[in-house]
Amino acid sequence: MSRTRTSDVLVIGGGIIGLVTAWRAAGRGFTTAVVDPEPGGGAAQVAAGMLAAVTELHYGEQTLLGLNLESARRYPDFAAELTEFTGHDLGYRRCGTLAVALDADDRAHLRDLHALQRRSGLDSEWLSGRECRRLEPMLAPGVRGGLRVDGDHQIDPRRLAGALVAACERAGVVFHRTWAERLDVVRDRAAGVTTTDGTGLGAGQVVLAAGSLSGRLAGVPDDVLPPVRPVKGQVLRLTVPQRYAPFLSRTVRAVVRGSQVYLVPRQSGELVVGATSEELGWDTTVTAGGVYELLRDAHELVPGITELPLTEARAGLRPGSPDNAPLLGPTELDGLSLATGHYRNGVLLTPVTGDVMAQVLATGELPEEARAFTSRRFAGAALTEQPA
Ligand code: GLY
Repeated sequence: MSRTRTSDVLVIGGGIIGLVTAWRAAGRGFTTAVVDPEPGGGAAQVAAGMLAAVTELHYGEQTLLGLNLESARRYPDFAAELTEFTGHDLGYRRCGTLAVALDADDRAHLRDLHALQRRSGLDSEWLSGRECRRLEPMLAPGVRGGLRVDGDHQIDPRRLAGALVAACERAGVVFHRTWAERLDVVRDRAAGVTTTDGTGLGAGQVVLAAGSLSGRLAGVPDDVLPPVRPVKGQVLRLTVPQRYAPFLSRTVRAVVRGSQVYLVPRQSGELVVGATSEELGWDTTVTAGGVYELLRDAHELVPGITELPLTEARAGLRPGSPDNAPLLGPTELDGLSLATGHYRNGVLLTPVTGDVMAQVLATGELPEEARAFTSRRFAGAALTEQPA
């Protein structure tokens, strides 16, 4: 095998997490490369782009909440910097979110969430059904109440991914548009990768940021391999014709019969409806059942959606981790760091992940705000059997 290229930092995976890591690494003066057949692809092409630290709060995830809030706090400066550096509009919209309840069970669930948010010191306001409809007149008359969260915003993940590719190119990051087949380990240290065409890419430091695929890269020692699994999400895209605008002015979401449904209205007229959550391995089939459930639940919330053109149905794979939180920073294998397992929060956590990983690459240490998310917390816990 002949090593054709070397860099200070090689990032495996060109999704938004790999790209932001590469951009920030290049900004620190590292010669940086990314290996991915389609940089800017991956889960960001499917994701809705909610920045929902408060409305997606779950019991037992208070530590993750801290990181989510920190990333939300960094978003305005991050978006402004990325736009200034690339000239790309990211579709970053500070529109807030309304989480609503359709029946007594949903209302009880939302009341519990409100109590948890208040205990966690978060800003959210309880509204009656009438107040919800005054804010969003397209809501169903049966809405029983809701939570107004003015701090949960949105960004267009496709635009974000495109801007990060442009930022990397501008910063001198080299793209190898191919698959990493295996990690190369030399004298107990990660030394680069071999690609599927047999090329060796050498590097001083390697970052594994391959989303849901991170748990199955050959050559990574078993006790270092991250326990990341794919969690399928089906997402629909509709278009709001100009004559119906403004259809919704903020993200509207609910839990309907135990399933999350959200409607994310973009300035461009796109309306994103998501998402299923399915543990089906590597399957990315769009199913009649998935589309039916999303439309059924979205229709219960906002009956007028049946008038809108349906333009796309797609499925993506969230990189799930055992505690729903990312794995960041150095591993037990010298030279190898992780930036993966972001699960439902990859878009939200992009700014803080870039900053954290730049610090890791420069100092070998996780900064304080990310210590709890050390890659080492699951050492040896990788799935012994990956989904087929
Ligand atoms: N954060 C939204 C989702 O994962 O569906």
